[in-house]
Amino acid sequence: MATINDNYLKLKAGYLFPEIARRVNAFAQANPEAKLIKLGIGDVTEPLPEACCTAMLKAVEEMGDRTTFKGYGPEQGYNWLREKIAAHDFQARGCEIEAAEIFISDGSKCDTGNILDIFGNNNVIAVTDPVYPVYVDTNVMAGNTGAAKDAGEYEGLVYLPITAENNFTAEIPSQKVDLIYLCFPNNPTGATASKAHLQAWVDYAKANGSIIFFDAAYEAFISDSTLPHSIYEIEGARDCAIEFRSFSKNAGFTGTRCALTVVPKTLKAKAADGSDVEIWKLWNRRQSTKFNGVSYIVQRGAEAVYSEQGQAQVKGLISFYLENAKIIREQLTAAGLSVYGGVNGPYVWVKTPSGLSSWDFFDKLLQNCNVVGTPGSGFGAAGEGYFRISAFNSRENVEKAMKRIMEKFKV
Ligand code: MLT
Repeated sequence: MATINDNYLKLKAGYLFPEIARRVNAFAQANPEAKLIKLGIGDVTEPLPEACCTAMLKAVEEMGDRTTFKGYGPEQGYNWLREKIAAHDFQARGCEIEAAEIFISDGSKCDTGNILDIFGNNNVIAVTDPVYPVYVDTNVMAGNTGAAKDAGEYEGLVYLPITAENNFTAEIPSQKVDLIYLCFPNNPTGATASKAHLQAWVDYAKANGSIIFFDAAYEAFISDSTLPHSIYEIEGARDCAIEFRSFSKNAGFTGTRCALTVVPKTLKAKAADGSDVEIWKLWNRRQSTKFNGVSYIVQRGAEAVYSEQGQAQVKGLISFYLENAKIIREQLTAAGLSVYGGVNGPYVWVKTPSGLSSWDFFDKLLQNCNVVGTPGSGFGAAGEGYFRISAFNSRENVEKAMKRIMEKFKV
């Protein structure tokens, strides 16, 4: 009989967001009159920028015309898009990243998981706690961990707690780790990293031959001009970091799908025989074999993000969600709750009141306010006692949700 990848059996229950959806659906079925407001999964609600829609419509017309029709595109993405990204997102900020180092993909979630294809199984892997669950679960699937322990941590992973005490920025580990996942602005805590903090990570990685997986999916929300948007703004990062970016949260592409991964050509890791191997070559080989690129239409839509109109429209979207985050922070603070984040990112991280567990607070909010958030413990053991509220929703829903929380939880 065929056998399975037994590592999947080590995974805890469900992936966090489907598990929330399951509980919410059960509640909605039992309470059909409840008007639920979902501030759980970080999914955008505002429509695509007009510049992107116009570009995609034009691309559809091209695809319907024999003279401009396109079949397979380059697996790495069209050069006209990669050039714009390199110039605008990196070179304009002083980062030495060239178009050929940018790989267009259908999502950062996929890429942060798929990247493990090209790394060995003997790496010591560090994640923050709490953490975006995809980093952990994909390592479990790849066989890079042992079993789950009672509190939910997996044997074999190095967990770096991020809490209010360390301002939600992981301390540099005293032990040697090979692969490190960092996400700034942070999902789920909304925390940011200064240049000095990232420099300390890059120095650590270079000293230990480690590689940093830097998830910058939320960089567009940075409003503090002193904060770095890219790890490549940090000296030495080209030799020790891979960066993941997305059009999902800035231009609203969660349902459209377009992202990018930067693999500098100077980045190397060891083969089993001790030789140095260029990571770019492996990722290029992996993508050329397992991926056929993002659709031409979607890449034209992503390209329009860099037009003057597109830039202004994306800025409008970001300001809109940041204003939502401000309302959430202010209202929850006025309700007597301790809140973090939500200034340079779309997530507000809340200390649960009266010592409630994360899932108990989830149930209370759902039942008493018909508001859905995300339990902090779903992001890791150190997230217990916290709760994440997403700013991705309409103004009306955010205001309504905050009013309901104020009424029930004001102390
Ligand atoms: C989240 O809510 O953490 C995000 O939506 C997850 C994602 O972007 O995949």
